[in-house]
Amino acid sequence: MPVFRPEIAALSPYEVGRPISEVARDLGLDPASIIRLTANETPFGPFPGVAEAAAEALAGANRYPDNDSWDLSNALASELGVDRSNLWFGNGSVALLVDSVSAVGGPGTRVVYAWPSFVMYRFAAIWAGSDFTEVPLDESHRHDLDAMREAIDEQTRIVFVCNPNNPTGTIIPHEEIASFVGSVPDSVLVVIDEAYHDFVEDQRYATAIPTALTRKNVLVLRTFSKIYGLAGQRVGYGVGDGSLITELRKMQQPLTVNAVAQAAALASLGQPGELKRRARENAAGRHHLVGVMDERGLEHGESHTNFVYFKMPSDDSRVVSREFTARGVIIRPMSSGWMRVTVGTEMENRRFVEVLDEVLDTLSDKISP
Ligand SMILES: Cc1ncc(COP(=O)(O)O)c(C=O)c1O
Repeated sequence: MPVFRPEIAALSPYEVGRPISEVARDLGLDPASIIRLTANETPFGPFPGVAEAAAEALAGANRYPDNDSWDLSNALASELGVDRSNLWFGNGSVALLVDSVSAVGGPGTRVVYAWPSFVMYRFAAIWAGSDFTEVPLDESHRHDLDAMREAIDEQTRIVFVCNPNNPTGTIIPHEEIASFVGSVPDSVLVVIDEAYHDFVEDQRYATAIPTALTRKNVLVLRTFSKIYGLAGQRVGYGVGDGSLITELRKMQQPLTVNAVAQAAALASLGQPGELKRRARENAAGRHHLVGVMDERGLEHGESHTNFVYFKMPSDDSRVVSREFTARGVIIRPMSSGWMRVTVGTEMENRRFVEVLDEVLDTLSDKISP
């Protein structure tokens, strides 16, 4: 056996959520009867015209992809009102956040982020050999930006702000982000992860892209994996000052956004009606789920996303998760009874609520003597 770095040997692999086929095999269920609400994917397919554009690109797959994502970057730059030099594309936004930590981190440095938040920030720190500080969310499951500012020390090279936050769904008002960014030393890279940006309807929230364009130490991350329904294609992007992007790209493997993915992302753009329709449909599903949780007295985060973070009457999230899975509904266990469910179609949400009630009954049988 080769000798592994101790911090890598100590890692448990990232859990992506079990695929439907595996759960069906394990439980002897029909895959069609299983509902997967575990990875904050959209239950709808890609946008109209995207599958056709991707198929056309596949026909040219004997050639390497365009390393500069030229067509995609021009189209996105004009949609966002930025220059194409402000854009950085990657194999999912996860690849970009990992490259960002690798570029500025390493042994003897520190990564700061909130907790609970997106677990990939922790992986990225460990992979780079950086130390990390996880700053607890406040009692409303929101980022405690004052405490995060306090946690930034001489060693700190990068801070993640997840807005809206995964797994809690909470948002940070725009002015708070702007004042936080203003208080962080220029030598520290601030990465504002806006993976769920398109789902937010609250007026207190705004993208940090304008802030990123006025500073050299701020990167905003976005993805085509969520509202655009392209999680399986792996396209994410960063927006920042051109000189920051030039430096960060030095850390990136070449040719990481494949040609089919570029074509699929490009064909997704310029469809504002579809984007709005999906955001509205998601909000209706989310309001329904939150209403159900309120009726049952279940504590939950104030979600602005396509998922809801809620507390079951149990200390063991894995036990709760198994109860759901046994009934054909896969949701994400967090910790201490907290769970995360992705908003699905109307039919999926209805089935989730039926199973929620069954699991609540089972748990109350176990709790009561
Ligand atoms: C906060 C956050 N950032 C980034 C991502 C990853 O997106 P991508 O599929 O673009 O790698 C996710 C996915 O779940 C996420 O929750």
